[in-house]
Amino acid sequence: MRILVSAGPTREFLDPVRFLSNRSTGRMGFAVAAAAVAAGHEVALVAGPVELAPPAGLAALDRVVSARDMLAALRRRLAWCDALVMTAAVADFRPARRAPRKVHKGAMPEALRLVRNPDILATLRTRKGGRLFVGFAAETDDVLASAAAKLARKGLDLIVANDVTKPGAGFGVETNVVTFLAPGAAPEALPLLPKAEVARRLVARIEALAARKGARFPSRAVPARMRALPKRSERSHTP
Ligand code: C5P
Repeated sequence: MRILVSAGPTREFLDPVRFLSNRSTGRMGFAVAAAAVAAGHEVALVAGPVELAPPAGLAALDRVVSARDMLAALRRRLAWCDALVMTAAVADFRPARRAPRKVHKGAMPEALRLVRNPDILATLRTRKGGRLFVGFAAETDDVLASAAAKLARKGLDLIVANDVTKPGAGFGVETNVVTFLAPGAAPEALPLLPKAEVARRLVARIEALAARKGARFPSRAVPARMRALPKRSERSHTP
């Protein structure tokens, strides 16, 4: 399969030196990209500002800064992919105005006016076609109910819910505690696991969903690890 993964936070600048962002480090998204490569898939990664070294073997890597940049990069690559995995912690708001020069303390307004960023999954939904869309839901309250509502609202095939208040889960740690929710399937609650293992199981779930949708991906109906991989030189696609 061709899997498009987004990772990390976005930064929303209010002047050249200050920005709004969040605690995402990109670990979960990079682990998903690495697990998908390891399973034999072609992977394109769109990453917000993170410190991590990208996994080896990517078909493409785009570095982006803001939510709008991330939307543009994903929009360009969407037609290429069979599955979009939105692991990124996209900033929901940005400052209404980005000053071209540093705003001096005295000139800074006491209240910052914010505007909503586009919801990337919702925006790309109109061009979803037969692709699989997978989202993440980092929650602190009513985790499963909120994630189930997002699954339906965003028209996703799968959502990975995590309670970021649980020890060992969420931002900046090497482990996660997640539940997979898919329409018409019982929730699959995983124990505390390294993010690499959560990612491996997520890729397996995506392969299973793709296999069920097989007819929609005529040339790539079978997950790559189940068929002989063409040699790199025989691969025709250049993203
Ligand atoms: O609504 P919420 O932000 O909690 O949804 C989380 C999911 O939606 C994640 O998969 C995230 O990458 C995606 N998202 C998005 N565009 C946004 C905000 C979140 O695609 N502006």
